[in-house]
Formats: sequence, structure tokens, C-alpha cells
Amino acid sequence: MKIVVIGGSGLIGSKVVKHLTQQGHEVVAASPSTGVNTITGEGLTGALTGAQVVIDVANAPAWDDQAVLNFFETSGRNLLTAEAAAGVKHHVALSVVGTERLLSSGYFRAKMAQESLIKASSIPYTIVRATQFFEFVEGIAKAATEGQTVRVPAALMQPIVSDDVACFVADIALEKPTNAMIEVAGPEPIRQDELVRQYLDATDDPRTVVTDPSARYWGIALNDQSLTPGSAPRLGRTRFSDWLNHTVAQTVAH
Ligand SMILES: NC(=O)c1ccc[n+]([C@@H]2O[C@H](COP(=O)([O-])OP(=O)(O)OC[C@H]3O[C@@H](n4cnc5c(N)ncnc54)[C@H](OP(=O)(O)O)[C@@H]3O)[C@@H](O)[C@H]2O)c1
Repeated sequence: MKIVVIGGSGLIGSKVVKHLTQQGHEVVAASPSTGVNTITGEGLTGALTGAQVVIDVANAPAWDDQAVLNFFETSGRNLLTAEAAAGVKHHVALSVVGTERLLSSGYFRAKMAQESLIKASSIPYTIVRATQFFEFVEGIAKAATEGQTVRVPAALMQPIVSDDVACFVADIALEKPTNAMIEVAGPEPIRQDELVRQYLDATDDPRTVVTDPSARYWGIALNDQSLTPGSAPRLGRTRFSDWLNHTVAQTVAH
């Protein structure tokens, strides 16, 4: 089966491409670096010719409110129009658990716009909503840093490693379209302050984590429901502590 992975050079995309290629599918890793651009339309028609499934795991290069909204709206429109012309049978997109609860952030308004375009299109779809990737914890810490202090709330999260996200996305792309959402999350809940503290410890980072109930997450006031999945997510197997011990500690050591 021909499967096009939009954002196929990215963190999740490159792993999805690998999984599906190993299973014998004809996989096109589509992104600007391979000559396919969903904003300009460059290379899109050629890449989609004969494709049965399209997986959209692209991300916006700039995250200020207007730029990120323009990206997901324009990319979504161009992609879905090209897919309709090519007769694509299943559109799979990666979004974020709790998107509708996070709309005080421009990034999540843009992800919501992406989801709405998919739901309104004629292409059968599955939206996969993931919790925060383990690899994103560094970005959370960076965004919350002032001097040597990292100020974060103790809100619950249930993060997931990118490898597990990629496995789920690849599996779901081979299933029938649900025309609905599937949530994927890590195996265990953890509070944001503890998550960041464990990450900084494992990476020998000298910054201090301060638990601050009023600290915002990308401008959003969080509660324990904001970032956590509903009652029936598919759960990844990799625990944060194991990832820190096996992956991060080894990277730091070398
Ligand atoms: N970070 C998290 O914790 C998290 C949690 C849940 C869901 N998500 C979602 O996961 C998705 C993938 O994230 P990621 O971290 O894997 O992204 P990433 O590593 O930043 O990769 C982004 C990809 O998008 C491609 N891209 C950029 N502009 C493009 C364009 N105009 N046309 C086609 N492709 C374009 C890039 O291609 P080039 O390399 O060629 O520029 C790259 O392959 C995002 O949609 C994000 O919202 C993230």
C-alpha cells in the first residue's frame, strides 16, 4: 500500500516512516527537505498520486499565534484538497490530548483549526491525540526558566515517549478510518513539577524547579484534567524513569 507521511523527516514522522517501510509498505517521507511543501503546494500532487493513506505529522516552523494558525490552516486546506483529488482513503493526523481545554494558547487554537478542517472534509479520517512527548520536557523546562529557576505548576500529565507515539500512529494508519479521535498516552501519570525535576536531575542540569500553582503552561492555567487523557486511551509501555535511565542518561554520559 502507498502511504505518504507529511512531516516524514520529523521526530515522529521519521519513526513512522521506518515502521511502515519495515512492514513492506511503499512509504513516501514528504516534507520541504524532500521537495514536498504543504504550504506552497510544491511536490504535493506527485507525492499523493496512487496513495491510499496520508499521515500528517508536520509541525509549524514558527509558533507565534498568527504564524502557527496560518500554518495549520493553509497546510490542512492544501493537503485535504490534494487528497480529495488523489482519492485518498484514510487521512491520519496527530494532534494533542485536551486541545479543546487549551485554547488560551495560539498553538492549540491552530491545532483545533487543523482538526476542524479534517472533520469538515470528505476524506475518511482518524485523529490521533497524544499527550506530551518525553522529548518535549526539555522544551517545557526551557519555556518556564527565569535565570536558574524553573517555575512550573504541579498539574497532572501523562507523557509518552515518541517511539510509542510513532508505533500507535503507524498501527492506526493501517486500521479502518474511525472518523473520530483516538487518544494515546504514557503508562503512568506524573505531576509537571516532578517530571521536570526528574529530567533536570538526570541531565545534571543545575537549575532549580519551583512548584508554583500560578505558573502558566505556554500561557495556559492548568488543572489536573487539562493535559490528561479521557477514560480509554491506548497506553504506551515506556515509563519516564526507564527512558531517563536508558536513553537520556546514556546521551549525557557520551
Ligand atoms: N511535542 C509534543 O509533545 C506533542 C504532543 C502531541 C502532539 N504533537 C504533534 O505532533 C506533531 C509532530 O511533531 P514533531 O515533534 O514530530 O515535529 P518536528 O520534529 O518538529 O517535525 C516537523 C515536520 O514538519 C515538516 N514540515 C514543516 N513545514 C512543512 C511544510 N510546509 N510542508 C510539509 N512538511 C512540513 C518538517 O519538515 P522539514 O524537516 O523538511 O522542515 C518536519 O518533517 C505535531 O503536529 C504536534 O502538534 C506534539
